[in-house]
Amino acid sequence: MNAPLIQPVYNKIQHGTWSTLYRRQRENLEDKGARLYLDALDRMEVLTEAAIPRVDGMSAALQDATGWELVIVPGLIPVNDFFELLAQRQFCTSTWVRRPDQLDYLEEPDMFHDTFGHVPPLMDPEFALFMQRFGEIGVALQGNDKAVLALQRLYWFFVEFGFVEEGGMPRAFGAGIMSSFGETNHAWAQRSDLRKFTLEGVMSTPFTTTEIQSTYFLVQDIPEVIREMEAWHQGLQ
Ligand SMILES: [Fe+2]
Repeated sequence: MNAPLIQPVYNKIQHGTWSTLYRRQRENLEDKGARLYLDALDRMEVLTEAAIPRVDGMSAALQDATGWELVIVPGLIPVNDFFELLAQRQFCTSTWVRRPDQLDYLEEPDMFHDTFGHVPPLMDPEFALFMQRFGEIGVALQGNDKAVLALQRLYWFFVEFGFVEEGGMPRAFGAGIMSSFGETNHAWAQRSDLRKFTLEGVMSTPFTTTEIQSTYFLVQDIPEVIREMEAWHQGLQ
């Protein structure tokens, strides 16, 4: 068993990069992002523009709200480990922050993506339940490569790049959109051309991690996504 990873202390440049990313993106999201996400972000006193947040502080806020916690990982982890963490209401985050010359493009997610993008929606009880059930179903389906790929597509098109409907309007929601200035503007320009979310639709749509997205799905109701996922899982047994 490895010792738990410890969050480093950051220098002024790193804190400055965080503040720039946060300020620019919070402003950009004001008229494009889901209130579900923005209200949670604004409620989190430990996730602000001022400085790179401490992982234990965000974890405590999540614990209070929905019983989730954050676990530090060095980078991308195997999918089965990821499912197992989610099943226990644990979300993983890296602790490195991009360089000032990488504001707009990264090959691998950094802490801004992992926390600014992923943490606020975990404050919402319905989304928190979705993520836990997603993890539990992933654990149950380990070894079934076709089903795991289908789950990865669901994650991609909902958790990373989904839109949600609020007040009859599409709003940006997925962490890959929320944590990226360029992705937000690209996705927002396509908001009149979103595909209606269906589980079958997302599970049969391939994605690429290396190019800007061309397809976005609009989720109308998170509990409905959970019900569809449960029914799909039942149908595999
Ligand atoms: Fe992500």
